[in-house]
Amino acid sequence: MRIGILGTGVVGKTLGSKLVKLGHEVRMGSRKAGSDKAKAWVRDAGIGASEGSFADAAGHGEMIFNCTAGMASLDALRAAGTKNLQGKILIDVSNPLDFSKGMPPSLSVCNTDSLGEQIQKTFPESKVVKTLNTVTAALMVEPSLIPGSHTMFISGNDGHSKTAVTRLLKEEFGWREVIDLGDLSAARAQEMYLPLWLRLYMKLQTANVNVQVVHG
Ligand SMILES: NC(=O)c1ccc[n+]([C@@H]2O[C@H](COP(=O)([O-])OP(=O)(O)OC[C@H]3O[C@@H](n4cnc5c(N)ncnc54)[C@H](OP(=O)(O)O)[C@@H]3O)[C@@H](O)[C@H]2O)c1
Repeated sequence: MRIGILGTGVVGKTLGSKLVKLGHEVRMGSRKAGSDKAKAWVRDAGIGASEGSFADAAGHGEMIFNCTAGMASLDALRAAGTKNLQGKILIDVSNPLDFSKGMPPSLSVCNTDSLGEQIQKTFPESKVVKTLNTVTAALMVEPSLIPGSHTMFISGNDGHSKTAVTRLLKEEFGWREVIDLGDLSAARAQEMYLPLWLRLYMKLQTANVNVQVVHG
């Protein structure tokens, strides 16, 4: 598959490298084509990897990952261009973390709205699927870094898109337990999990932390 990765941070690089390894053609996008970070990633990731602007990456992808800083995601996606995102699955892994007042960050949107929903509202013809935002980048593509079963969440308004993304999570990334939380308003819960994640990270001193949902 041709995949567009918007974002040159650790998440973009980790997802991009895994997808290249799996045989996909991946183009990484950033604010300006030819950024040092993106060029270094292309060299490391090898055949199947390319880079460009956000618009280049979105135009290339049949499926797009939003891996940009949450506070800037809407701007980055606008730069990617409505036409380049139209009709495509847009996997949103971002978190609306506001670091402007220091650590720990707060959520710039919560309770009655979410970044995932804001993205969907801004790009109504894209099929936004929220997932992977609740774990650190390395775990996204290698859940076995934590022994045993643990849980990934997914939400979105389009059932077929969620089915396709769940297949990718399970068959290509190796997730065993994926819970579909329903429509995209569930992105509020996925994003509001972040304060708990941050506390667990501070307490346990490792980013390799996740939850397993158990129920009666
Ligand atoms: N780090 C993790 O393990 C982790 C885990 C789960 C979820 N997340 C979420 O995943 C997203 C990516 O995280 P990250 O740590 O890989 O990278 P990041 O540093 O949060 O974001 C880097 C990307 O954001 C873009 N960006 C920054 N400011 C921008 C602006 N003003 N306008 C447009 N684009 C801008 C950068 O563009 P340039 O390429 O042009 O610099 C870059 O591509 C975040 O939303 C984060 O909360 C992260």
